[in-house]
Parts: sequence; structure tokens; C-alpha cells
Amino acid sequence: MDFVALPKIELHAHLTGSISRRVLHEIWHRKKEIGETLLDDPLTVMPQDKYDFSVESFFPLFSSYIYNLLTDECSIRYATASVLEHFLADGVVYLELRTTPRATAHLSAEAYVRLLLDTIAAFEVGHAESMHTRLVLSIDRRQTLESAEATLELATRLRIEGHGVVGLDLCGDPSARPGGEVALFTPVFEKASSEGLGVTVHFAEAKASSSREELKTLLGWNPGRLGHVIWEDDESKMEIAQRGLCLELCLSCNVQAGMTDDVGVFGSPLSEEYRLVARYFNVNRTQLCNLARQGIDAIFGGEEEKQRLRDIMWS
Ligand code: IMP
Ligand code: ZN
Repeated sequence: MDFVALPKIELHAHLTGSISRRVLHEIWHRKKEIGETLLDDPLTVMPQDKYDFSVESFFPLFSSYIYNLLTDECSIRYATASVLEHFLADGVVYLELRTTPRATAHLSAEAYVRLLLDTIAAFEVGHAESMHTRLVLSIDRRQTLESAEATLELATRLRIEGHGVVGLDLCGDPSARPGGEVALFTPVFEKASSEGLGVTVHFAEAKASSSREELKTLLGWNPGRLGHVIWEDDESKMEIAQRGLCLELCLSCNVQAGMTDDVGVFGSPLSEEYRLVARYFNVNRTQLCNLARQGIDAIFGGEEEKQRLRDIMWS
């Protein structure tokens, strides 16, 4: 079976974590030449064949390295367009890209998000038939309530303006705010739901974020989907199954790092994940197509988009 040609839905892609090392290197090289960076070459920090990042080495990659490279319009636009190209070339027909709004030395958090939306719109002019992309704004569990509220306000405004922001995500280092402390964000996510934004949350991607208290809090936010869900206990498993929630699984990274996703860091494109499913779970062609189609009802992109996907995805 041709796993690249199989029309696929990608619902769990962190923008910054999806940028390839080659593209990060190109951005670094341009900055280095004009004396705009003192950072080490991305190919030294993340060598081409290194994929064994752990929970300790993974999150600092962003905060102390990649974010310092992606500060200006040109780099962010180039990196985002490359990510879209990559998903398109891998046979993705619907993409929900998520990102944490962040201010840089050159851009406000809102300008950063608008830049992404602009890049997506420009990309879609040439590829409207093949891949549609929507944006989910992420709240990092390390953030303050004020900063989460600012992200909600921005997401709500951009959704109403019709720019393709469709949801809110809870992500970030799972060891932060353990034992249900994420309840701090309850008012934000409850409001998001009532404002018509889709809610997706990372749950139990590590032991630290797998408590019953945390699940209770997260389910109270009325999430449409849960990310990872690999360290939960049997009782939690039952509860999630009963609700029929869509799970955003990241097979090879779960095996390799015991957590986390991100094609840029772990190097396994979606087509490869499907290949692994077919091989290790002994799934035939029909079952695999049905699996790919299961995502349709869980997208945040609306009914019209769901119908488009029903029409184009193999059965
Ligand atoms: P960004 O939001 O586009 O900047 O993507 C990178 C960010 O996504 C990281 O700083 C993390 O907060 C978050 N992230 C990426 N992968 C994971 C994951 O597997 N679990 C939780 N957070 C993640
Ligand atoms: Zn994730």
C-alpha cells in the first residue's frame, strides 16, 4: 500500500516541533552570514541521525534554542511554509497545526499568529484542492492564568474574524503543574468551549500528567480530543473509552521517548506512522482506510470540511 498517497488527517502537529533540521539550518545559516546569530548550527545541536531526545532534553530545545532562531517575519514565514509543504507532500489532506502564541524581539504574540495565518492563506491559494489547514492556539501548562486568558481572547477574536483559528490546546512539559493543578486554567477552557472553539488537551503523555485528578479536570473542559494518553490507569482508560473521545496518538515517539510527538524532532512523518500501524498491528487496507477516516468527525474545522473529507478519503 502507498502510505503517502493515502489521504490523511493530521490533528496533532506542533508548528515549531514540525520544522525539519535542514530548514532550521538554512535559517541559521542566513542569520550567521549577516551576523544576526551567535547560536550553534542546528545540525550540531540536533544532528541528522539523532532522535533519542528525552523529556529532559526535549522541552529546552524549544525554549533555549529553536525560539531564539525563529524571531523575525522572514524566518517564521519560511519555516511555516516548509512545514506546510512537508505535510502536503506526505499526503495530508487536512491539517490542524497548533502553536503557542509568543512575542519575539520583532513581533507581538498577535502579530506572530497573524503571520502564520497569512502564510497559511498564501499557501492555500496554490493548494486549495489538496490540503486545508486550520490553526489551534496552544496554552503551555507552565504559563500564567493571565497569559492563558490572553491566548483565549486572541483565539476567540480570530475565530470570529473567520481567519481559521478553530481551537485551543493544553500542552507543554507534563511535569509542570502535576496532580490536577492545571485546574488553574478551568475558566479559560470552559469559556473556549462556550465560545465555539474546539478543545484538545495533552493527557497522560508522562506519568506526571496522568493522575485521576488531572483527568477529572480535563474532562470537565468538554474536550473534543485527547493527545497521547499512554500512561493512564485502567479506570481512566474506561472513562475515556466510554466517552468515545478521539485520541491523538503519536506511536513512534511514544515508544522512542515514552512521550512527546513532533516530526521535526523524532523524524517520523504521518505516512510512516500508518506504515508502522499496518505492520505491527496487522491491519489490512480496508481497516487502515477506516482508521484514517475516523479522524473526520473529530476535526474542529466544521461540517463543510467534514463533507469534503468524506468525499476524498479512501474507504
Ligand atoms: P510551538 O507551540 O509551535 O512553539 O511548538 C513547540 C511547543 O509545543 C513546545 O514548546 C511545547 O510546549 C509544545 N510541545 C511540543 N510537543 C509536545 C508534546 O509532546 N507534549 C507537550 N507539549 C509539546
Ligand atoms: Zn503534542
